[in-house]
Amino acid sequence: MTDRANENGAALTLIDLKPGQVDMRAEVLAGLAAVPKALPPKFFYDERGSALFEQITALEDYYLTRTEVAILEEHRQSIAEAVGAESFLIEYGSGASVKIRILLEALRPVGYMPVDISRNHLLEASRALAMEFDWLDIYPTCADYSSALPLPDVANGHRRVAFFPGSSVGNFEPADAITFLEEIAKVVGPGGALLIGVDTQKDPALLQRAYDDPGGVTAQFNRNVLRHINDVLGANFDPAAFEHQARYDAQLGRVEMHLISTRAQQVNVAGTRIEFAEGEALHTENSYKYAPEEFDVVARRANFTVQQRWTDARDWFAVTLYRVV
Ligand code: AVJ
Repeated sequence: MTDRANENGAALTLIDLKPGQVDMRAEVLAGLAAVPKALPPKFFYDERGSALFEQITALEDYYLTRTEVAILEEHRQSIAEAVGAESFLIEYGSGASVKIRILLEALRPVGYMPVDISRNHLLEASRALAMEFDWLDIYPTCADYSSALPLPDVANGHRRVAFFPGSSVGNFEPADAITFLEEIAKVVGPGGALLIGVDTQKDPALLQRAYDDPGGVTAQFNRNVLRHINDVLGANFDPAAFEHQARYDAQLGRVEMHLISTRAQQVNVAGTRIEFAEGEALHTENSYKYAPEEFDVVARRANFTVQQRWTDARDWFAVTLYRVV
């Protein structure tokens, strides 16, 4: 499908890889049958969950977004020089394409390919972007980002650069992060690059607070996974009977989020009865943190080496351009 955002608007070409419907029932029941119980973090993000995450990014304690945005704003020229002229950009999990806007004028890429699993949000975001940047050719790609991505012909002969901001890579187990980065290295190919934002290791108290704000927005976000499951699977979780808990595990280098059952209770999930003991934890998310040099090792295993890095004055967040070895 090709359409134009307005009369003189940028070209918009949808690439629909028709990502398979996630079998939410099977994944949720498998997680609830595991010991200890766990749920995949992707189920946070229904409409309410996405809105709550937006609120989190504006919290004083959640330094990640504002620190990364400040780095991109301050260094956009230097980033553009390192990336080079006429690149072809591929963004993984592009959402509302907020962060790429900071770089677009400086980068002037030959094409921008936002990849997201949510078709409607992807198209809406791409249309808005096309209105703002009428010179930009956009290739919105509806896919889950583990699948091999076919690039449009325009990418041939240009440096391909993947963009993966937000420290979203922290949701992967380190071994899975390597596998995912290997996939990106294949997509961008020889001469290609990866511009990635990674949250750093820091004072555990700061890390912990970023996931446990006093206003309780993160707690609502965490409990929202239960509401989402209630809505989609007809379950009867009582979100008020679960307490939000964020803990930093220094050994594993990750912040964990859990929901703690405040009493012994039974929940019906899609016809299956699930028992919770009082105080039992349901593990809902890991956010791995990496010292920049530590993440360099992960990247190196996936065939990437550091080209250039930009950080804030406190080294709270790192934006690194890796090039394929
Ligand atoms: C979207 C995965 C980067 O791990 O910091 C925010 C999600 N969880 N607060 C993160 C999240 C709790 C966020 N990521």
